Amino acid sequence: MSDQLTIALTKGRILGETLPLLKAADIEPLEDLNRSRKLIFPTNNADVRLLLLRGADVTTYVRYGAADMGVAGKDMLLEHGSEGLYEMLDLQIAKCNLMTAGPVNAPALSGQRIKVATKFVNVAKRYYAEQGMQADIIKLYGAMELAPLMQLADQIVDIVETGNTLKANGLMPMEMIAPVSSRLIVNKASMKMKHRRIQPVVDQIASALTASDL
Ligand code: PRP
Repeated sequence: MSDQLTIALTKGRILGETLPLLKAADIEPLEDLNRSRKLIFPTNNADVRLLLLRGADVTTYVRYGAADMGVAGKDMLLEHGSEGLYEMLDLQIAKCNLMTAGPVNAPALSGQRIKVATKFVNVAKRYYAEQGMQADIIKLYGAMELAPLMQLADQIVDIVETGNTLKANGLMPMEMIAPVSSRLIVNKASMKMKHRRIQPVVDQIASALTASDL
């Protein structure tokens, strides 16, 4: 393995909260990530580069070692599994909840088979099985809130932050599946091979998190 450190980050709103944590570990991109169409970014450290990916792909890059480390939502780790990677730190950012939701005033569903629309297929399968409920899981890629309104599904499984999206679509949060926040993840082989390079980054980010708690 080369000594280069590759860190996978997520495009979008989490980026603004992630960059100050990397800065605490003396890692700063040389240009504004939000204004570029590039996907690989050099940093002030010649041996560190950043990748800008979709949230669902960060775990994949880190699992296969295409990136040494990354920032991924707990929702993605629950959905895609943690094989091949270590979850090092809870970064306490992008906090939300994975929940079931359904129409306000929907009749109680008991005993019957239900339809559930979600992009979190594995999470939903596990959750409904644990509840002893028979659920047909329908995979969607976004706008899950529409599914109950169009009678595609009885319920959805999605992340809920403020609850505004549910409310705006006549839905309500129902059961909590898991709290979600962003995690610092590291490829297991990279952790072994590049330990001396990776551990200080983890430690400096951990210190920055502790300091911001005070
Ligand atoms: C998420 C989620 C909900 C919304 C919840 O979508 O899928 O639609 O946020 O937030 P709220 O409770 O504050 O309304 P996001 O905007 O991340 O886009 P996505 O559909 O690409 O996941």
